[in-house]
Amino acid sequence: MKIAILPGDGIGPEITAQAVKVLNALGESFEMETAAVGGAGYAAHGHPLPEATLKLAKEADAVLFGAVGDYQYDKLERALRPEQAILGLRKELGLFANLRPAILYPELAGASTLKPEVVSGLDILIIRELTGDIYFGKPRGVRECPDGPFKGQREGFDTMRYAEGEIRRIAHVAFQAARKRGSRVTSVDKANVLETFQFWRDVVTEVHKDYQDVELEHMYVDNAAMQLVRAPKKFDVIVTGNMFGDILSDAAAMLTGSIGMLPSASLDADNKGLYEPSHGSAPDIAGKGVANPLATILSAAMMLRYSLGRLDQAERIEDAVKRVLAQGLRTPDIYEAGSTKVGTEEMGNAVVAALA
Ligand code: IPM
Ligand code: MG
Repeated sequence: MKIAILPGDGIGPEITAQAVKVLNALGESFEMETAAVGGAGYAAHGHPLPEATLKLAKEADAVLFGAVGDYQYDKLERALRPEQAILGLRKELGLFANLRPAILYPELAGASTLKPEVVSGLDILIIRELTGDIYFGKPRGVRECPDGPFKGQREGFDTMRYAEGEIRRIAHVAFQAARKRGSRVTSVDKANVLETFQFWRDVVTEVHKDYQDVELEHMYVDNAAMQLVRAPKKFDVIVTGNMFGDILSDAAAMLTGSIGMLPSASLDADNKGLYEPSHGSAPDIAGKGVANPLATILSAAMMLRYSLGRLDQAERIEDAVKRVLAQGLRTPDIYEAGSTKVGTEEMGNAVVAALA
């Protein structure tokens, strides 16, 4: 099994180093190869997704990704910005299904900004379509406004679009995932305003005919945002488009109080995947040894489960993470009085020690 390791920028290198350490401690013979991506890719090879990095990602069985982005690259033209690396990998590898679990570990119930009774026991799965929608729709750009009261001025525009097959395949992923959990899917759209999402709703309803054992509910995205903070435990699986999923998954992550804990998987049709923490590159704390490596370590566990077919090793890692939390070890982002504050490396070492 070959794993491509793409650490990226900011805290990316520190946190992926901990996940690699955990993978190495499993006693398997995984082949791991590292390549530059994001700002680091631009600095080394003049492009956020260097050709060699893309080649490695394509030939590997799975990709473990840190995070991309740093202030110093913000002024580059869009095509050279670090974010293009992750968007390019998603598109080039066909990673259309993004799984973002939001789980509240009982030990961390106090870390949420919401009342414990609202979030305790939270376990929801957001499934975000990842290669379509307004993120990739063409045409896009800045042009001369062709009509209306601002005719003749400059205008920015993007295109929201979803093909039937794109909606069908993500709906299948959602219904199948729901069968292994609470058997409920909430499809989030904006069918009251957008043609694209009325179509989305119709297609999801058609696909649902094959899954009569799963309960399907449709919800407008504004209401979904409200329900997520009002009564998040009412959700089981949420399926939605690229743009809405981007926004709702950040909100859902914060329900758990600790975006530093949440892994994610981005899968293609054959379960080949890219695994990354749900949080970003946090350049403000990079290099200080305080970043929480658990989301990346848990992403490695998801990788073992979904792409490498090693459920046993995935569970070993997840159990080890639960054990270090039970031991009271906390990086600063999840620290509470009475627990033991540790740094990035110490946390990684503790997970390795707890693997046993
Ligand atoms: C995410 C991020 C990306 C996105 C950015 C970095 C392009 O916010 O993975 O959610 O918008 O998809
Ligand atoms: Mg996002």
